[in-house]
Amino acid sequence: MTERAEAVLEARELRLGFGAVEALRGVSLRVAPGAIHALIGPNGAGKSSLLNCLSGFYRPRSGRVLFGGRDISALGPAARARAGIGRTFQGIHTYPGLTARENILTGFHARMRAGILAGLFRWPAAVREEEAFTARAEEIIAFLELEEHRHALVGEMPYGLRKRVDLGRALALEPRILIMDEPMAGMSPEEKGDLARYILDIRDRFGIPVVLVEHDMDVVMDISDRITVLEFGAVIADDIPAAIRTDPRVIAAYLGGATEGATP
Ligand SMILES: Nc1ncnc2c1ncn2[C@@H]1O[C@H](COP(=O)(O)OP(=O)(O)OP(=O)(O)O)[C@@H](O)[C@H]1O
Ligand SMILES: [Mg+2]
Repeated sequence: MTERAEAVLEARELRLGFGAVEALRGVSLRVAPGAIHALIGPNGAGKSSLLNCLSGFYRPRSGRVLFGGRDISALGPAARARAGIGRTFQGIHTYPGLTARENILTGFHARMRAGILAGLFRWPAAVREEEAFTARAEEIIAFLELEEHRHALVGEMPYGLRKRVDLGRALALEPRILIMDEPMAGMSPEEKGDLARYILDIRDRFGIPVVLVEHDMDVVMDISDRITVLEFGAVIADDIPAAIRTDPRVIAAYLGGATEGATP
């Protein structure tokens, strides 16, 4: 807990409530550049709530969110996405009636500069932009090894593959950070292994830090540079995996009735 390197993304003292439920009670988080930062904790601890405050889907009652040192607390989710905060959601968020490639292309829409009108009239700037996106989509398809599934309908794909397409959609945004809520829930061990490899590659090849919520402790311990542990809306530990593994408060929190593979 000693290093105070600059943070790419930072939460300061976030408080969030749903009626009588206090989902976050003054949560702070610092994500270092190029880090894989895992968020763990029992069901209902506030992990998704925290991610939603970072990406702008929830507005905390108090506290600030800083991105690249800039206070983005007032920005909504679309503006944060444009600023470079990419995310994948808990569960499936792809378009089943579109192909893998088309789903990935939808990710570019958030970044379209030429605008809808220009696209409609096929102005040169819009055409150039579209060509650049198509080329970039192919790079993402190659990176995620989706070549043979390029034109397959996502609705007909197995779960793990759909999640990979969703990751491609998030990468199309050319994010400066990627937030993933339980990306491996419901996956087979092979699919988990594949996704873990892509997450490591995203960090190593693109230098994009990844914040992820994950219940599979083997995966978390394996790939994380840092782990923050939440319990009842508060941070109970924040350290490197080796220290988290032996932290008495963390062990107690997990023995206190945590379950595996939870959904919302
Ligand atoms: N939209 C909402 N409306 C009402 N209560 C909510 C809402 N979202 C979360 N909560 C409550 O806030 C608390 C934290 O929930 P959250 O979803 O952030 O937990 P979590 O750590 O992501 O859990 P899980 O591991 O089950 O996904 C819980 O008590 C939950 O019931
Ligand atoms: Mg959750």
